[in-house]
Amino acid sequence: MVRKMKFISDQAGIMNRYLREQEHWDAHLNNTMAFILGSFRDREIRNLAILGSGWLLDLPLKELSKKFKKILLVDVYHPPQIIKKAEKYPNVILHETDLSGGGIQFCWDLRKAKEEHLENYVLDEFSPKIPDMPVKPDAFISLNLLSQLDSLLVEFLERKKVRVTDTEIRRFRAKIQQFHLDWITSKPGCLVTDVTELANGPGNKSEERPLIVVDFPGSRRSEEWTWDFDLAGTYHHDRETRMKVAAMEW
Ligand SMILES: C[S@@+](CC[C@H](N)C(=O)[O-])C[C@H]1O[C@@H](n2cnc3c(N)ncnc32)[C@H](O)[C@@H]1O
Repeated sequence: MVRKMKFISDQAGIMNRYLREQEHWDAHLNNTMAFILGSFRDREIRNLAILGSGWLLDLPLKELSKKFKKILLVDVYHPPQIIKKAEKYPNVILHETDLSGGGIQFCWDLRKAKEEHLENYVLDEFSPKIPDMPVKPDAFISLNLLSQLDSLLVEFLERKKVRVTDTEIRRFRAKIQQFHLDWITSKPGCLVTDVTELANGPGNKSEERPLIVVDFPGSRRSEEWTWDFDLAGTYHHDRETRMKVAAMEW
């Protein structure tokens, strides 16, 4: 299901884009790692969960593994290279789960829903649940994950031509994002996420697309920067794409 819904190919796409854009991504990756290393000062935290760990491009794993008792890396899928890398750290635990709170199974079950759902707001029936974890975390890091939680599911529904309305999709996005923020703010934590996509074309045409549709929590520390996401013009054909990124700790 996860493979057919393109979660694994999308994750491979992140690595491929990183290899193409490495020099442009470095500032964003370094900003993320520096923000994380500045977090959780003067806080009693033993077990830390990293949500959306992926390829660990933006995670200072070595430093964190020395600072905390257990590090839980959570993603829908851990690539074999990451499983191997994690073996070097006895206090790093890998866990695969759906961090949208069950949206993957929910959307998969909808894939054949076409005309028969025209009368219902079927997406409104989704009710996210906090996923089980093998270790109880004392703190969370949400690592460039938030905007992906809803967008990969909505793209799947669009590919499958599931008949849902724009209003439902807006509510579905907001529900998933709000669920994530409510969950991770129940403990100390930090969030790094892209918030706006900026696409620039040759004719000086520039477009902004908001990626986050809910309000951020109050924070004790925050930063913002721009991520040169795709300057090769492959994400949007012949256009440069940048992301506005926000980082915060509460
Ligand atoms: C943009 S990447 C974050 C960057 C990542 N830290 C890295 O270095 O590769 C988003 C990650 O979130 C994961 N992800 C997306 N949707 C997810 C979901 N519903 N449940 C769990 N993980 C998810 C993807 O597999 C991917 O690894």
